[in-house]
Amino acid sequence: MLTDGTTVLLRAPRRDDLEQMLRFANRLVREKRKNASLGILMDKRFSRKEEEKFLTGVLAGIRRNDVVNVTAEVNGKIVGNTDLRRQRHNDVLHLGRLGIIVLKEYRRKGLGTLLMETALERAESLGIKLVTLEVYASNEAALGLYTSMGFREFGRLPGGIRQGTSKIDLVYMFRQA
Ligand SMILES: CC(C)(COP(=O)(O)OP(=O)(O)OC[C@H]1O[C@@H](n2cnc3c(N)ncnc32)[C@H](O)[C@@H]1OP(=O)(O)O)[C@@H](O)C(=O)NCCC(=O)NCCS
Repeated sequence: MLTDGTTVLLRAPRRDDLEQMLRFANRLVREKRKNASLGILMDKRFSRKEEEKFLTGVLAGIRRNDVVNVTAEVNGKIVGNTDLRRQRHNDVLHLGRLGIIVLKEYRRKGLGTLLMETALERAESLGIKLVTLEVYASNEAALGLYTSMGFREFGRLPGGIRQGTSKIDLVYMFRQA
């Protein structure tokens, strides 16, 4: 349940989520185009084919226990998603990289926290020990969420993000799963 009383279903993605996932992803692209300071990279519309390829990869990763993906659904609509990927090589199989997105009208209601808690619990059960992520230094919402979830900065890439003439640091964070 979100802080405004909305009931949300947290679950793994399914093959028949394709249309909803496409809509979700392209909503974020539209938001990014209107607001360049939104701290996400996605800036090109996804075609159905691209989204299908992405979803197929996610479902295969879940079957191999290399991907944790949690989808948040409200009244049949996807409103949030977190994706945590195990790294591929033997020496780093204990490392996972996390990304998270919540639709604008569902932000600041505790959904990001619920998604992260669910993904981190699952990651731990798969033997992922350390979770890393990257965040724009200007992304106060994400920095707030990550800090509240116990993530700590371990470095930053000065000017890792460029938007026109402005340069933004890319902050690297980690926490134990
Ligand atoms: C970052 C994001 C996932 C947070 O999700 P959310 O559902 O709003 O997060 P929550 O409601 O669980 O917030 C948890 C805590 O994070 C912090 N936080 C969240 N939004 C914040 C904001 N706009 N400003 C400052 N702190 C914020 C607060 O500490 C908050 O706790 P509080 O509401 O009790 O004060 C969401 O803003 C989002 O999807 N943004 C666009 C995509 C993005 O930036 N993804 C991350 C890329 S690295």
